[in-house]
This record gives sequence, C-alpha cells and structure tokens, in this order.
Amino acid sequence: MKQIIAGNWKMNNCAEGIEAYAKALRHAPLRAEMIICPPFPLLAPLHAALAGSLIKLGAQDCHSVAAGPHTGDVAATMLAAAGASHVIVGHSERRTDHHETNALVRAKAEAAQQAGVIPIICVGETEAQRDAGHAAAAILAQLAGSLPATLPYIIAYEPIWAIGTGKTPTLDDIAAIHATIRDATSPTSHILYGGSVKPANAAAILALPHVNGALVGGASLTAADLLAIAIHAT
Ligand code: 13P
Repeated sequence: MKQIIAGNWKMNNCAEGIEAYAKALRHAPLRAEMIICPPFPLLAPLHAALAGSLIKLGAQDCHSVAAGPHTGDVAATMLAAAGASHVIVGHSERRTDHHETNALVRAKAEAAQQAGVIPIICVGETEAQRDAGHAAAAILAQLAGSLPATLPYIIAYEPIWAIGTGKTPTLDDIAAIHATIRDATSPTSHILYGGSVKPANAAAILALPHVNGALVGGASLTAADLLAIAIHAT
C-alpha cells in the first residue's frame, strides 16, 4: 500500500504563503500520496493553488449532519465543494477542546463518507494511560467507538503526549500499537503515525511495519520540512 503523508496545519498558515508552498509541492517528485489539511478559509485558495497536481486537500473537522442550524460549523458536503477529498475527525485537540466523544467522532466520519470525503480518524492515549500500561486498551476503546461500520477511512494513531512536544514513543512501541490497530481494523485501511514526526525521525518511523504514513503537524508548516519527511515514504 502506498504511504500517505498528511500535513495538518491546525490553526496556522504555512510559513511561506500558499502559492510558494503549493509550488514547492507540485514540483517535487513524490512517491507518497500527499494530503494538506489547512484551516477552513484556506481550503479553496489552496485548492486553486494545487489545481492540476496530485496533491490532495483535507479539512480538519466537519459536522455530523449535512445542513442545519449549527452556527460556526461546516458540513462535509461543503468541504467536498471546496475541493477536499479528506477530513480529519476526532483529533485529540478537538476531543479535548470541544469535548468530542467517540460517538460524535463516528457520526462525523459517517457524514464525511456520505459526502464522498474520506475521514482520517484520530486515536491516541494520554501520558497517564501509557504510564499505567493502558495505551493499547485506550486505543482499542476509541477505535471501537469511533470507527464507522464501513470503509473507506484512514486511522491516525497520535499519542497525545507526543503531539507538539518533540517526544515520540520508541520505535518498538509505535510498531506494537500499529500492529494492535491493524488487528482491530480492515487489512486495507491506512494507519498513519502522528506526533512530533520530523525530517530527522521520519525514515525510521516510516520503515516500521503497519505504519502506512504520517500525520504531520508542526513540520508541515514549511514545504521543505514536509518534503524532507515525504522523501522517506514508500
Ligand atoms: P506535531 O507533528 O506538531 O507533533 O502534531 C501532530 C499532530 O497533531 C498532527 O495531527
């Protein structure tokens, strides 16, 4: 399976501006499937800047219904209309900041699928869960509650304590969790690793079994860093 490198800009713009970022990506020889996930207002301009390239566009959230009185929310159908083929759902920052439950994450993933948008469903343990030896159980519970009944979906394993901290699990620990997730899901869905993926650690992480790509936060804000990660994808 071809690896996926997805960039999650979170609530940031890219460092060099959309046109320069898109230009750098569109001219790079890429083996991986690339998905860039900017904030909502940048979806349409980035879509225009990437037109004609193979780089895909993702959003960072969607609502669980297709339309209605939900001030401030965005429906998956609207993301599709803006050019998004993917959407991140259940990121730990949304589970924390917006109290999103597994059931809500599943409903969002299903809404995305109905709109023809592939959900990237995030799971990951807290530091306390890991220290108590409960990482795998925590992740399996999130998967059981968050995954839709049908494909397509992508799973992103992001240990919460590794996000934005520069800390990562050991390679053995990443491999073990990915093997656990693989056993709990379909053989064909991608399982991405996320949490402090950088150019310096990407080769080792992307070489692990059942690591089918990476979901990259901070290092996706410059095209150069994201490409320095993507070069290690197979
Ligand atoms: P960092 O790569 O900045 O640790 O963020 C990971 C992440 O949360 C991607 O969704």
